[in-house]
This record gives sequence, structure tokens and C-alpha cells, in this order.
Amino acid sequence: MQQTAEQIFAQINYLSLAEDLRCKGYAIIDHALPIELETALLKHLMDTPSEKMRVAGIGREQQQTLNSFVRRDQIKWIEPTTQVEQAWLSHMEALRLILNRQLLLGLFSYESHFAQYNAGDFYKKHLDAFNGQTNRVLSTVYYLNPNWQAEYGGELVMYDPENHTQEIERILPELGRMVIFLSEEFPHEVLPADRMRYSIAGWFRVNNSINNQVDPPK
Ligand code: OGA
Ligand code: MN
Repeated sequence: MQQTAEQIFAQINYLSLAEDLRCKGYAIIDHALPIELETALLKHLMDTPSEKMRVAGIGREQQQTLNSFVRRDQIKWIEPTTQVEQAWLSHMEALRLILNRQLLLGLFSYESHFAQYNAGDFYKKHLDAFNGQTNRVLSTVYYLNPNWQAEYGGELVMYDPENHTQEIERILPELGRMVIFLSEEFPHEVLPADRMRYSIAGWFRVNNSINNQVDPPK
């Protein structure tokens, strides 16, 4: 029998997730996914040959400006080509349905990529979306680093939407932790770490189709 979205996410308190998003604009969920999927994703990323990872660009066009002053991570877009990527995407699809039911956001699609930050890599303070340009509504970051310690660095720094110089929280990229935030509201930054840092960054988008042409993601 097919599981409902709520059954798939039975292990998280999605009511308090929705409440946090409504009241604060962001939420942190530990142990967001089943442990088997968490382990499989980490293994998949560690087994990905480095030539399959690409230097990340800025902006969503193909002719991205590669700007190593802003970001230094390497990425690989997730496609439903392997079982583990399919499992990730079906969990995020379940989350999309839950968020739409709880928050009436009209989220239409989800795009995501693996990201690898080598020691010393960073992503300077940025917004994931500007004035609806990319139709990114909610950003997600899911971390794949077992036993991450504060002294390693590599925190995600969240800044105040009203005052972009004011830090509101530093979040360690610990295995199984998911951070979800409003893409247009929260400036955020990835601090350099002293070792490899793995994550999956993703975005729930609304549709902006014109003349029946579905707005392409990425
Ligand atoms: C991003 C991003 C945050 C992180 O990829 O846009 O902000 O903690 N990632 O990896
Ligand atoms: Mn970002």
C-alpha cells in the first residue's frame, strides 16, 4: 500500500516545523530522514568520483560567472538516476506535499545538488533568490558529516532578514540535520572548515509558466 507523505515523515514533528517556518521563517530538524537513507546518501557522495563534481557557479544560467571569491564548493545536481537519489527525491516530494498542506505555499517543484566543500572552501554571505527571480521559495540544506565538532568550523551562519549584518544563529553541519528557510528573506554564509564538508542544498520552487511552457529549474 502507498504511504502518505505524513507516514513517510512520521519521524519528524512536521507540525512544529510548519510552526517554525510560519513564525521564524526558518527551521532546523535533526534526524530529518531515516537512518538508512542518511547512511546511503553519505556513502553515495563519498563514492562519487571527484571528476563528476563541478565547480559551482553563481546564478542559474548555464553561462554562470565562476566566482571563486564568492563560493568555492563543488556540486553535482541530483537526478533520479540511482536508487539513493530517487529515495532522496521521493522524501523531498513528501516534504513538499506536507509543506503545501500546512503552509499553503503552492510549492511546485524541487531541485537539489550534492555539495562538497574542501578544507578552506566557503560560500560568502548571499541570498538564494532575489525578488522571485528564480521562483525559489524555500531553501533546504541537509548535512552529511558524522560527529562534526564546533572546532572544525564550517558553520552555516544565518543573518537577520531586517539587518543583514546581524547574525542570528550559527549551525553546525551535523549528519542528519536539515535547515529550511525562506529563500528571499535570509542572507546566509558557509564558513570555511578545516576538513571536507558534505551537504545537499535544495530549493522548493513555485511555477512561473507562461504560454504553457513550464519554467525550467536550475
Ligand atoms: C547554498 C548554501 C549552505 C550550506 O548552497 O546556497 O547556502 O550550509 N549552502 O551548505
Ligand atoms: Mn545559499
